[in-house]
Amino acid sequence: MAERLAGKTALIIGAGSVGTTAATDGDLGGWGNGKTAATLFAREGARVFAVDLRADAVADTRKIIEREGGSCETMTADATNESDIEKVVAACIDQFGQIDILMNNVGGSIPGGPVEMSVSEWQGNLDLNLKTAFLGCKYALPHMVNQGKGSILNVSSVAGTSYLGRDMVSYATAKAGLIQFSKSVARQYAAAGIRANTIVPGLMNTPLVMDRIADQYGAGDIDETIAMRDAMCPTGKMGTAWDVGWAAVFLASDEARYVTGTEIVVDGGLTA
Ligand SMILES: NC(=O)c1ccc[n+]([C@@H]2O[C@H](COP(=O)([O-])OP(=O)(O)OC[C@H]3O[C@@H](n4cnc5c(N)ncnc54)[C@H](O)[C@@H]3O)[C@@H](O)[C@H]2O)c1
Repeated sequence: MAERLAGKTALIIGAGSVGTTAATDGDLGGWGNGKTAATLFAREGARVFAVDLRADAVADTRKIIEREGGSCETMTADATNESDIEKVVAACIDQFGQIDILMNNVGGSIPGGPVEMSVSEWQGNLDLNLKTAFLGCKYALPHMVNQGKGSILNVSSVAGTSYLGRDMVSYATAKAGLIQFSKSVARQYAAAGIRANTIVPGLMNTPLVMDRIADQYGAGDIDETIAMRDAMCPTGKMGTAWDVGWAAVFLASDEARYVTGTEIVVDGGLTA
């Protein structure tokens, strides 16, 4: 079967994972959404430019891709920092000469409502979830316009469309904003041949759950947190990063050439 992303270059920002390297697809241990999408993009023939705050995390992604025979370059950068992202885009263009796919994957939640959160926590969380996508688009879009094509994928969350029982007002606000951000970009650049869509994951069993979210559930341990999250899902199980990754492959590919300004919700029916 033909590779679905052959000849394309993918810039993935947040391409590492908070977890450690996992050996196989079946092992959830180290597979975050960005790392899994990077791996699938490479399997489908794309050249990957993988960017992350942590050098070790993005080195893991590169190892996985290269041991499978794929092509991956890496760079460390802070996605909330404008000059870092300007340099990332320039380096990707230097290396590969084009950016066909931009995946803005950086993000994460912190607990609290308006009273509990400090102003700096609020602003920092908006920056992590929203400014990162803005900066990726700001610097990649001119290249996409020159190419006359491009596909932008922004990673939101069901927390941006529904209240799921936990107070995390900055995350919910930023992830909701990201959906409209994609729509705005999609309409502005549709005539230029550029598509912009949002992936909306539900409750996923990624390393992020073990690393950060467990504390927020107030469960005794990781297993209890996983059981609580599984029980919230209509299928009885959380999704995995592979479910998000395959949605990303579709949206990035020419199969989705008429799909822009919309969302793919990957939540097992949670918000239905
Ligand atoms: N896991 C879930 O249940 C879930 C559900 C809904 C939405 N999401 C969204 O999915 C996205 C990430 O998922 P993931 O599983 O890949 O998470 P992850 O935390 O494993 O991976 C994100 C990567 O981004 C990197 N990163 C963090 N801050 C950065 C910065 N400032 N600059 C550059 N890199 C930075 C981290 O080092 C990490 O390697 C987030 O946007 C998150 O909000 C996750």
